[in-house]
Amino acid sequence: MVGSILLPRAAKAAGYALTAAPVTLPVVPGQPGTMLWGYNGRFPGPVLRMRQGERLRVALQNNLPQDSSIHWHGLRLPHAMDGVPGLTQPPVKPGESFVYEFDCPDAGTFWYHPHWASAEQVGRGLYGLLIVDEHAPPDVDRDVAWVLSDLRLNRQAQIQDDFGHPMDISHAGRLGNTALLNGQLAQRFALVPGERIRLRLLNAANARIFHLRFGGHRPWLVALDGHPVQPRRLEQDHLISLGPGMRADLILDAAGEPGSSHPVFDVERGQAYRLLDLVYGPAAAGRPSRPDPAPLSPNPVAEPDLARATRLRLDLTGGAMSRLDNLKVDGRDMSLGDAFRQHRVAWALNGRAQTGHRHGGGHGHGNGPLFRLNLGKSYSLEIVNDTAWPHPVHLHGHAFRVLDDPDRPLRDTVLLEPRSRTSVAFVADNPGEWMLHCHILEHQAAGMMATVQVS
Ligand code: C2O
Ligand code: CU
Repeated sequence: MVGSILLPRAAKAAGYALTAAPVTLPVVPGQPGTMLWGYNGRFPGPVLRMRQGERLRVALQNNLPQDSSIHWHGLRLPHAMDGVPGLTQPPVKPGESFVYEFDCPDAGTFWYHPHWASAEQVGRGLYGLLIVDEHAPPDVDRDVAWVLSDLRLNRQAQIQDDFGHPMDISHAGRLGNTALLNGQLAQRFALVPGERIRLRLLNAANARIFHLRFGGHRPWLVALDGHPVQPRRLEQDHLISLGPGMRADLILDAAGEPGSSHPVFDVERGQAYRLLDLVYGPAAAGRPSRPDPAPLSPNPVAEPDLARATRLRLDLTGGAMSRLDNLKVDGRDMSLGDAFRQHRVAWALNGRAQTGHRHGGGHGHGNGPLFRLNLGKSYSLEIVNDTAWPHPVHLHGHAFRVLDDPDRPLRDTVLLEPRSRTSVAFVADNPGEWMLHCHILEHQAAGMMATVQVS
């Protein structure tokens, strides 16, 4: 079977070692291997798996030619383990190592990636899934994952070395030209007639937003960004939109005819691109028809008190076709034109651009965290996207409820369409100074990042 990650069972003691290093692997059939950066010689990196409530210990060895770190995307963990160099730990230098160790309070589909030079390091292949099993996982025949991503390759199937290209940072980010499923050119995914699978989707691309449409199938949506939602059957023309960093868990009944094949499309601006085919094998032994999937048990996330929540507002501005004239770059006022020419800054959050993880870029010119929140208090954050581009906005260390989404899901990343707004609410219950940024990694590097102090 091409393109499937069959997930390992959780190890008793969840201890792992991850070595980040260059590696050459076949990505495009018939082409020479692609020089990537991977964990443990793999692309995507190994699936880390444990049970809810268990403690995870990971020793990172950095064998890259530059500093690195690992951020545990979506995990509500102690600040010191969040993997953001300059903010939560020093960068892990080439040849050095760092041990991460923390409890996993929430079950679900999470992922890990560097938080240093992320646009280049993720763009060269450094990421993997982190799966935390529920105490009572749903009854399925297979638990599989699709890591969706893309790479920008040249004709020799090598990564184009134009990271931080001005066109990418001020527009849609670094879009690849080769869409991948689990690190391979997406082709086909085999199904056994009658089986029920849990399908974990992750968008690990730097910038590409996937809008999936399942031909001939009506999967159930059961979780978003790791957190359960009331199971809901998706109609045939439904698009599952996943911005960079986002996840969705589906339950899919393989109800197609033996031997049949069904395309899965990625739909962009009305154009449908065939991403892969669901391909049925011969008929298996008769299986009973199944009841609708039951909801997964909720994670222990505190519910925000909407009546008492303090209201905050986050304005996303900048980019090509911007209405923004002036902004503060690491605390200094300048025009957007100068910011772009001198600092490769193209975006702002509430009129401020930050070029490092710590406000002020380490030069002391910053004016502190964007928001200062009181520990244990509820906040509602209205996010206003006054740009011509979509942005997946990600907050570290917390999960927020998306108030404008009909499912009212708990998420760690919310996707805003161009010139749109949404509101999220959360309890600021994890102390520390946390990143808040766009997960289009070129936008993040070009100013669309800030910190939120919880104390
Ligand atoms: Cu997936 Cu700040 O990161
Ligand atoms: Cu963005």
